[in-house]
Amino acid sequence: MSSATPPARLRVGVIGAGRVGSVLGHALARAGHHVIAASGVSGDSVRRAARLLPAADLLPADEVVAAADLVLLAVPDDTLGGLVQGLAETGSWRRGQIVIHTSGAHGLAVLAPAAAAGVLPLALHPVMTFTGTPEDLDRLAGVSFGVTAEEHDRAVAEALVLEMGGEPTWVPESVRALYHAALAHGANHLVTLVNEALDLLRTAGVAEPERMIAPLLQAALDNSLRHGDAALTGPVSRGDAGTVRRHLGELVDHAPDSVPAYVAMARRTADRAIAAGRLRGLDAGPVLEVLTPTPVRGSRR
Ligand SMILES: NC(=O)c1ccc[n+]([C@@H]2O[C@H](COP(=O)([O-])OP(=O)(O)OC[C@H]3O[C@@H](n4cnc5c(N)ncnc54)[C@H](OP(=O)(O)O)[C@@H]3O)[C@@H](O)[C@H]2O)c1
Repeated sequence: MSSATPPARLRVGVIGAGRVGSVLGHALARAGHHVIAASGVSGDSVRRAARLLPAADLLPADEVVAAADLVLLAVPDDTLGGLVQGLAETGSWRRGQIVIHTSGAHGLAVLAPAAAAGVLPLALHPVMTFTGTPEDLDRLAGVSFGVTAEEHDRAVAEALVLEMGGEPTWVPESVRALYHAALAHGANHLVTLVNEALDLLRTAGVAEPERMIAPLLQAALDNSLRHGDAALTGPVSRGDAGTVRRHLGELVDHAPDSVPAYVAMARRTADRAIAAGRLRGLDAGPVLEVLTPTPVRGSRR
């Protein structure tokens, strides 16, 4: 395969028609490619394919590969390696094809069996959360794609990402897992953190916690994206050890399962506040003391 920009119209096969595969397949069709085949067995995948990939025949994975110039693999991370290897063992890959996977955690290594058969391998990870509905398509405009590709294949990768409405950012193979850890830590744990806060507010008797907390969280996110650690406010950064102690006492009594995560986040917040010069020597000591060790149930200090 040459490193030139891909031909205007490719025959695309999607394995499988999950949340990401159905949406990116639709985006490729919107860019002028022909999505001619897709795989999916569950009712959800069959429905998504009918809605977002209406021109595609539903076929087994090896037949999708046989029909396609470009194969989009959008399967669970832990399934990817076995799938690529299995398709290599059955002689499904063809020299000159392009194969893309959408996993953040993997780079090119997982595609090695296809590359060995002469297929051009690309890791194109959209930095976005997908639901597998048409609303996802609107969110693709300007989304970063973490791209891992051989130097000579970069033009192909860039063209495909731009066609889907995204912006390529090059991620070296060696840091792919770290890159993905950063995204999961930020996006997935943010969801857990927000839901923990909502539950605590409900426990405190607040009737509409989402309404109460939304402006605060939106401002905190906006400020931290713009100002980094300087955006930090609250008792840890002020050195209000007494307030932190009272928080822990209440959590021990009302939400003991939340205590370890609160302590871990508060400690990390203190570390970052100290490093940023927000929390200074004399104030830092009492805060760190309150956070060590983790209080046991029922013991208010
Ligand atoms: N969802 C997101 O927000 C998001 C964002 C960026 C990247 N990603 C990445 O995109 C990939 C797909 O994620 P997803 O959320 O789209 O997953 P998903 O909604 O669970 O869909 C997975 C698809 O893979 C199919 N599949 C499962 N096992 C298979 C196998 N052994 N052989 C062939 N097909 C198989 C499923 O078919 P059936 O339904 O018939 O079982 C389904 O169509 C993952 O690598 C994920 O990390 C996801």
